Amino acid sequence: MSEVTNTVRFVLDGRIVEARGVRRTTTVLDYLREHLHRTGTKEGCAEGDCGACVVLVGELSEDGERVHYVPVNSCLQLLPTLDGKSLKTVESLQRADGCLHPVQEAMVACHGSQCGFCTPGIVMSLAGLLQTVRQPGRAEVNDALSGNLCRCTGYRPIVDAALQAAQAPAETLRIDDAADRPLLRQIRRASEPLYGLEGDIVTQPVLRTRKGSEFVSPATVDELADYLLKNPEATLLAGSTEIGLKVNKNFERPERIAYVGQVAELRRVQADARSWRIGAAVPLAEVQTLLAEAYPDFAEVLRRFGSPPIRSTATLAGNIANGSPIGDSMPCLMALDATLLLRRGTQTRELPLTQFYTGQKRNVLQSGEFIEAVRLPAAARRGVSRAQGQQALRAGHLGHTVRTALPARGRALCRGARGLQRPGAVTRAGAADRGGARGSRARGRDGRRARRRRGRELPAA
Ligand SMILES: Cc1cc2nc3c(=O)[nH]c(=O)nc-3n(C[C@H](O)[C@H](O)[C@H](O)COP(=O)(O)OP(=O)(O)OC[C@H]3O[C@@H](n4cnc5c(N)ncnc54)[C@H](O)[C@@H]3O)c2cc1C
Ligand code: FES
Ligand code: FES
Repeated sequence: MSEVTNTVRFVLDGRIVEARGVRRTTTVLDYLREHLHRTGTKEGCAEGDCGACVVLVGELSEDGERVHYVPVNSCLQLLPTLDGKSLKTVESLQRADGCLHPVQEAMVACHGSQCGFCTPGIVMSLAGLLQTVRQPGRAEVNDALSGNLCRCTGYRPIVDAALQAAQAPAETLRIDDAADRPLLRQIRRASEPLYGLEGDIVTQPVLRTRKGSEFVSPATVDELADYLLKNPEATLLAGSTEIGLKVNKNFERPERIAYVGQVAELRRVQADARSWRIGAAVPLAEVQTLLAEAYPDFAEVLRRFGSPPIRSTATLAGNIANGSPIGDSMPCLMALDATLLLRRGTQTRELPLTQFYTGQKRNVLQSGEFIEAVRLPAAARRGVSRAQGQQALRAGHLGHTVRTALPARGRALCRGARGLQRPGAVTRAGAADRGGARGSRARGRDGRRARRRRGRELPAA
């Protein structure tokens, strides 16, 4: 039994959008601009760096009473991942009486916009921050803006606007989603697998064509494992921060895509006295919060990983499976003796991360096998120490973020050991703190480095 469907359903400002006949690799940004003509959201780089495309994606809480929003780079997210969710763009912020959102008003009042190209993305990042942090300080605002490049205004007025907007009454800051919630309950994806007449699992499709290409979004790990066993060539999609790049820059169009983001078991962290079992679909933003107290150095590495919109969707499993030699989570995970729980069909095995790789971008995963979870020992040891960092360095595993996050002496040791240039210690957040021309030069360097980095990572077209 194979159900053919060609509709993605999501909620946009009090109505259900049924996106019909879209390709499985259409991005949220392209759909917004080209199909819905919502051109407020901009395309700058199409690779997750500039933040002009930031939107908020909302998911209904389990009790169906609240919507939890995260900022995402719409240029990297594939439209079928939105199935069952809610989308908010800069146009959504306008109130019924025509008034602007307090962030927009403050951007005007503080002169936070010149050419305006970056402004919708900046407004969405700040509106997203104010959904969860009621009174952010300057450092939190800087962090929230670390995925948004502004070339012409300079960050000081933008940060001032954020701090000013935070003084507005809570009800005007909150995104009004009263009309969305009943619709989200209506289009919620099934949380149990479907079974055919023979008792076989029918993997839930979002898009499936008669020609055989499809985007599936399983609800359970059994359903996912069964699908991958039957379709080992399928591309596994987690946070899409690598795959989105391959779609945009290399024009890759995988025939079959299996999305892990709706698999409830993979989105959980299970804790016991000895370890945390971090599901393969848990976003890095949640891992960062989880580790903040027990492993503050690792959490600091994650704070510098990409940017908030990247960390809202990117996963540890995606970073590990991608296996880039400059990937940032693996050195810390190795230093902490992390293990991987691998699954193929009904078989599972546990493997130390140190035994996962067999070469550059090569690993021990068998056909149809995937990472189900990452196991981290509970914090008997606190932090990733300098010595552990050096150990990873000697093993040739130290990524750029780790170098910048290590304490000063650790960084000096790293430079000495490898003859490295002074690492890019100025992050966009730090640059935002400084503001002005110096910040903008630093951001330019950051951007060039990031582009070079990804240029190296992408396979030849
Ligand atoms: C702007 C930007 C900034 C970035 N900054 C950093 C950075 O600072 N440090 C860094 O290390 N990386 C960075 N990256 C790279 C990327 O964000 C990370 O590698 C991220 O962890 C990938 O996770 P994902 O969930 O998005 O993976 P996806 O893009 O969904 O998938 C990546 C690969 O992993 C495979 N995969 C995913 N889940 C599984 C699974 N459970 N089992 C087996 N295979 C799986 C996929 O099939 C694919 O091959 C950046 C990327 C961008 C675009
Ligand atoms: S267009 Fe630059 S981050 Fe999406
Ligand atoms: S206002 Fe021009 S890029 Fe920010």
